[in-house]
Amino acid sequence: MSYNFDEVIDRSGSYSVKYDFFQEFKKPEKVLPLWVADMDFQSPTEITRELSKVLEHGIYGYSNSKEDYDQAVISWFQTHFQWEAQPEWIVKTPGIVFAISTAVRALSREGDAVLIQRPVYAPFTSAVQLNNRTLVNNPLQYIDGSYQIDFEDFEQKIIDHKVKLFILCNPHNPVGRVWTRQELTRMGEICLKHGVIIIADEIHADFTYPGYEHIMFASIKPEFSQNLILCTAPSKTFNLAGLQASNIFIPNKELRSKFKAELSRQGYHGLNTMGMLACKTAYEHGAEWLKELKVYLTGNRDYIKDFLAERLPEIHMVEPQGTYLVWLDFRALGLKDSELEDMLLHKAGLWLEPGLKYGPEGAGFQRINIACPRQILVKAMHQLEQAVKTYGKIEL
Ligand SMILES: Cc1ncc(COP(=O)(O)O)c(C=O)c1O
Repeated sequence: MSYNFDEVIDRSGSYSVKYDFFQEFKKPEKVLPLWVADMDFQSPTEITRELSKVLEHGIYGYSNSKEDYDQAVISWFQTHFQWEAQPEWIVKTPGIVFAISTAVRALSREGDAVLIQRPVYAPFTSAVQLNNRTLVNNPLQYIDGSYQIDFEDFEQKIIDHKVKLFILCNPHNPVGRVWTRQELTRMGEICLKHGVIIIADEIHADFTYPGYEHIMFASIKPEFSQNLILCTAPSKTFNLAGLQASNIFIPNKELRSKFKAELSRQGYHGLNTMGMLACKTAYEHGAEWLKELKVYLTGNRDYIKDFLAERLPEIHMVEPQGTYLVWLDFRALGLKDSELEDMLLHKAGLWLEPGLKYGPEGAGFQRINIACPRQILVKAMHQLEQAVKTYGKIEL
């Protein structure tokens, strides 16, 4: 490996949400933070080099992207997902949560029903509820250790509630599924049949484990891409969340103009200079780095899997097919969620994401972020083992 993902870099004092906000979140100071979805790795050096040029120049006036930006974004998806986009389809936003909320406002009215599949990334719920739309849930089914879609329920809920929008998460946070072409096609056909527009959040598209392939929803057939708000970003892939740049593809002209009109109503007019440059550079020069990172993350996933199987079989890892977020099933411990969180924080010294954040279906689960140097995970797993086996006595 030419990149050193083993290096532990002190992130404290960098205004990091993960490392500098223990007090604000009312967490003990010395717990290991493995919750929020960013990585403890430096981004590819090419990105830092490009950003340094801006710093040296020292003028931070208005900027805008040019064709080379669009080309870099389009080439990424062409090379990695065999999907051919057009430059005019790209609408830039400062983030995916922002884009989802914008799409909900642009394409539905107050009271309209919006479908999601819980347990799912919590801002899906807030994008619906904070905009006074009606939340409709098609709960994922946890069957034989893996998550499946209940398609009958999916269609029936659409009919019963006259659903207008469906927010798809692929790869799915937190359960780690990479939906197959068959599953995506079935959902897409049902949505077309009932006039439901799809907002596809594919922010984790670049993270699939060996044996799994991310299929871009837009690539399946033209009718799907015409019924779609496709949300992509380099932020998870290259650890750029703080730079706030994302690319929303909207091939359908009418949907695109509605989305853009909503952006204008919010007064948003373009990416910040650093985010724009980082995105372009990442897509132009980041492929090798990502390739090695994925090997490292696969090692991290396998480490946790083996450790739990051998030493803590009562905690089950739901095998992720994609994302660097791992969904752990603690239900066999027989603890209430509040007790589980208390044990993790105060006995194991671990700050994970409680499953309930993703909906009631997440009860008894916790999400752990494995995008960190291996030695941090090793420490985390040993602390967990000691806590579960002794119910306490860890010196924090
Ligand atoms: C599925 C999903 N969508 C969106 C986001 C956040 O995107 P942004 O920071 O661009 O709003 C995350 C972050 O964890 C995520 O997991």
